[in-house]
Amino acid sequence: MDFDSRELRNALGRFATGVCLITAVDEQQRPLAMTANSFSSVSLDPPLVLWSLQNNSDVYDVFAAPRYFAINILSSEQQDHSNQYAKKGEHELASEHYLPGKYGAPIIRDALVSFECELHTTHEGGDHLIIVGRVLDLQQRPDGEPLLFFSGGYRELR
Ligand SMILES: Cc1cc2nc3c(=O)[nH]c(=O)nc-3n(C[C@H](O)[C@H](O)[C@H](O)COP(=O)(O)O)c2cc1C
Repeated sequence: MDFDSRELRNALGRFATGVCLITAVDEQQRPLAMTANSFSSVSLDPPLVLWSLQNNSDVYDVFAAPRYFAINILSSEQQDHSNQYAKKGEHELASEHYLPGKYGAPIIRDALVSFECELHTTHEGGDHLIIVGRVLDLQQRPDGEPLLFFSGGYRELR
């Protein structure tokens, strides 16, 4: 390999993405959120989506095997949400940030889109776990601009 991990991370970061909050409830029914940009669409029929969870996360056990979870695509006005739920030990959702979804996973208020998912499969992916969800329901705003992430910083469409 002719590159080190910093070079790889920087190169991967040049793929511009949106930013999501992955949400689920823990065993005590506490609503949790984690910022993620590894979201990707997988299949239309059946409707499948994925995201990747780092193996060393403090909240790995909650996010690796929830029966239901939601993927919430953040709007350009929700950068504070992204920062807040990317902090270690700060994954518990503030009550004003969500509503309960149909299947129990928290739905982020004013997100561009929220996909309510049932866990479909997981796959080992090196230092991450690839989590595939089957979309059971979705809610979307008719308007709004996305929050973007590129080269380690937030961007907006222009
Ligand atoms: C823009 C952005 C995207 C991120 N994407 C992911 C991701 O896809 N998967 C992941 O496991 N962590 C991702 N993280 C890191 C987590 O949000 C969070 O920082 C990390 O989970 C904190 O450590 P903890 O899980 O031990 O609490 C991302 C962070 C940021 C700011």
